[in-house]
Amino acid sequence: MRKIHLSSFAAALLLSCVAFAQSADPDQVWREAVEWMKAQPGPQFPSMESYRAELMKKGLTEAQANERIALIGKLTQDDPKYRQEASTLSFNRLYSSPSQTRFTTEPNAFLASSIKELKPGKALDIAMGQGRNAVYLATKGWDVTGYDLAEEGMKVARENAGKAGVKITTVQAGFADFDYGKERWDLIYFVYTDAPMVDAKFVERVVAALKPGGLVLVDRPYRSIANPEPGWRETDQDKPNALPKAWSALQLVFYEDAAGYADWQQTSAGRLEEKRRIVRMLARKM
Ligand SMILES: C[S@@+](CC[C@H](N)C(=O)[O-])C[C@H]1O[C@@H](n2cnc3c(N)ncnc32)[C@H](O)[C@@H]1O
Repeated sequence: MRKIHLSSFAAALLLSCVAFAQSADPDQVWREAVEWMKAQPGPQFPSMESYRAELMKKGLTEAQANERIALIGKLTQDDPKYRQEASTLSFNRLYSSPSQTRFTTEPNAFLASSIKELKPGKALDIAMGQGRNAVYLATKGWDVTGYDLAEEGMKVARENAGKAGVKITTVQAGFADFDYGKERWDLIYFVYTDAPMVDAKFVERVVAALKPGGLVLVDRPYRSIANPEPGWRETDQDKPNALPKAWSALQLVFYEDAAGYADWQQTSAGRLEEKRRIVRMLARKM
């Protein structure tokens, strides 16, 4: 039998490859990255470049570090579970940072003007974030429930409600698992959310949850080939007039697709610097 002689360098390389292969379980690679990211300060997560540098500082070769970064990218690209976790982690990070500049903490203007003439009732805030809209509505006499996956945002919402001397209900839930109920809400609003608003089953659940005469309100960026955003991928929601079509079971009260300043400016540099297309819809259950 041929003997294999390894130089100490080759042996070290082999050992480090074995160590990498052993630790390269995708979920473990993910968890390690998440733990490192969580430990870094600031309103946003550090770039993958910083993580690559960190991995190499820990002794991985450039190729091994690249392999891990590519694996993390693939997990978020291919698996909704990891994509959702990454999104919630980054929203939690943002909401717990008082110095954030990504979104205005003022209530949404379309929502504020739309409720002016309404008698306060029960409102549901879909993906409420840090509660800028829920708290505002509560100060106007509405009984507001909001849900989101990002608990840090809802913590800020409850604190701000307390400071304003009002109560709101917060529920940690996702679009699919929140219990919407039947004929329960006078107003359900979707402000800057990627909830599946053109999914027929989802629309049906939300319509069933509205009281007769109840309203659905939407205000969100309209993304299109001509109006993309960082990390954007076209969805059915981004097709012209997708919303009025999907919600045709309701009576359309108002719809516009117009340029304006977004509440969420969607980049990390400065805010309100350029106008974006925004869709706004108000529709009533007859
Ligand atoms: C752009 S923020 C908007 C927050 C708030 N509506 C506002 O206008 O300030 C989007 C929110 O959607 C939440 N979100 C993302 N995926 C979600 C899901 N599957 N279910 C519930 N909330 C989700 C995020 O945690 C985040 O708070």
